[in-house]
Amino acid sequence: MEALEKRILRDGRALSEHVLLVDSFLNHQIDMELMRDIGAEFAERFRGAGIDRVATIEASGIAPAAMAALSLGVPLVVMKKAASSILNADALTTKVHSFTKNSDYTLMVKARFLPAGERVLFIDDFLAMGEAAFGAARLIAQAGCTLAGVGIVIEKSFQDGAKKLAEAGYDVYSLARISRMAEGVIEFA
Ligand code: G4P
Repeated sequence: MEALEKRILRDGRALSEHVLLVDSFLNHQIDMELMRDIGAEFAERFRGAGIDRVATIEASGIAPAAMAALSLGVPLVVMKKAASSILNADALTTKVHSFTKNSDYTLMVKARFLPAGERVLFIDDFLAMGEAAFGAARLIAQAGCTLAGVGIVIEKSFQDGAKKLAEAGYDVYSLARISRMAEGVIEFA
């Protein structure tokens, strides 16, 4: 998505080989016109995929996922992160490891917000090693739903997430794919 790549080059900042700062438009201050266009782009790509529902993970996935759900005219469900499992009869949970943050968390969603048999589009802001997306995929499977697509705003293609998700058979669509970063340098695939 050209407008997104331009925005990343203009306002993003590569802090290192691994971390891109996008807090002025994606995950701290949020450019809602850009989010609207991102939502429309995901909706166009997945419109024929029979999507019943969009799912994301709090917090930074919510803005792009919300706009995609709005564009597709389907509900949005937000998977929650908790330090430990909260006892709840209706809760589906799975453990996720974040390499970027070097920590584990429990991902949780209430089963009633993922009705069995639905086709779910998972959307997130970043894709690095794919751990969050695989965690979401496990919850979607536990609920008896199908992960019908994965929409990513910024894929860090130099990490293995996209490759692993594709190998697992998931339909991954990333709006910007970064092939290399270094301090002050951002290159697209
Ligand atoms: P993975 O799921 O693909 O394996 O990624 P990883 O665990 O490494 O990423 C965990 C968190 O770090 C996610 O946020 C993700 O958005 C964020 N992240 C990953 N790479 C970058 C990056 O280059 N720049 C920025 N700004 N964030 C990155 P999170 O823990 O879910 O936090 P939040 O959504 O509450 O902000």
